Amino acid sequence: MKFFIDTANLDEIAEAKSWGCLAGVTTNPSLYAKTGGKLADFESHMLKIAELCEGLPVSAESTAATADGMVEEGLRLAALASNIVIKLPVCEAGLEACRKLADKGVRVNMTLVFSAPQALLAANAGARYISPFIGRFDDISEDGVAQLADVVTCIGNYDWSGKNVDDKVEIIAASVRTPNHVTQAALMGADIATVPLGTLKKCLRHPLTDRGIASFEADWKKVEQA
Ligand code: E4P
Repeated sequence: MKFFIDTANLDEIAEAKSWGCLAGVTTNPSLYAKTGGKLADFESHMLKIAELCEGLPVSAESTAATADGMVEEGLRLAALASNIVIKLPVCEAGLEACRKLADKGVRVNMTLVFSAPQALLAANAGARYISPFIGRFDDISEDGVAQLADVVTCIGNYDWSGKNVDDKVEIIAASVRTPNHVTQAALMGADIATVPLGTLKKCLRHPLTDRGIASFEADWKKVEQA
């Protein structure tokens, strides 16, 4: 399973990238708003992320309300850099725009997915990535991990050749809130987990690792100099 970072913050992306294990970035309107960026700077900000990520897929979300608007915005964003993926919500307009963009060779990440039927519709409409949300489903007392498992199984049951530019669909476990979400996503074979930096750090750290590093350092100081 690959790791994407779920943020629009350039410093956070650079930090995660420095670890050498980052495979992509996902953003959304809320994450861009959190950076304090202005509307007029949205596209240049997405370009900065795309350049920082050197070819890794970067999802930029359309905020248009109609299919035509999504296609227009999607084409504009996709023209900024070849690694920009257009993120669209799974709804009637989103599906229509997804098909139109996919037919033009644009990669689409279909977001806000909460069921296997939504995921199947998205894949048939040409989505290159599908993002089932775990945390937000848990928030309404549903089982986000079980829902993700259904999506992984249902999409994995079929060959998506001819449906999008890369002839494949990857599932991005989204709305990941805990290291256990990451473990569960990998156990069921999700292709990617998109994870905020804070949760990535929680995935990395372990008290026994910290204690081990400290004890090795302390013991090394006891070794006599030659
Ligand atoms: C997915 O791509 C979304 O940006 C993201 O994972 C949403 O996470 P949240 O539910 O924690 O806001």
